[in-house]
Amino acid sequence: MQWAGLVAPQASVLDLAAGRGRHSIFFADRGHKVTAVDRDVGDLPDHPNIERLKADLEDGSPWPLSDRRFGAVVVTNYLHRPLMPQLLEAVAPGGVLLYQTFMEGNERFGKPSRPEYLLKDGELLELVRGCFSVTAYEARLISDPMAMVQRIAARRLT
Ligand SMILES: C[S@@+](CC[C@H](N)C(=O)[O-])C[C@H]1O[C@@H](n2cnc3c(N)ncnc32)[C@H](O)[C@@H]1O
Repeated sequence: MQWAGLVAPQASVLDLAAGRGRHSIFFADRGHKVTAVDRDVGDLPDHPNIERLKADLEDGSPWPLSDRRFGAVVVTNYLHRPLMPQLLEAVAPGGVLLYQTFMEGNERFGKPSRPEYLLKDGELLELVRGCFSVTAYEARLISDPMAMVQRIAARRLT
């Protein structure tokens, strides 16, 4: 929400691993056309601005969005590293990546605690280096709930 103002009015939004769609709803209510992807779309609301796309992102199936590009890609509390190239490619030139998830150190507070679900120090920065302009980056402890997270807001250059 803090960086939603970076997303151009009317820009399309991809909410990857959308869950119950809290970010899909947020952007849809602001007038954006949202594509919400999850393996379980049953909890996603009916909303005229939300396209629900049921897909397992980890079973080896092709990337479900083929070559579609979005004005913003939002990912929160989800990490599956093999998807990173497609996820970055899904951000249109000039579009925005908003990504927040757990990082190493979170195992002190609970789950996720396995390394494959925890970003390494600086990983989101490394991910976008060279292709995105970084507006904001944080790696820190948050308190509600207590968790170690990394978050980035970055604009795709080309
Ligand atoms: C912790 S929830 C985060 C939901 C949402 N992004 C949020 O922050 O409220 C993780 C989401 O990832 C989805 N997910 C996990 N594995 C998946 C897979 N293999 N394919 C698609 N979605 C998956 C789950 O269904 C769940 O909705």
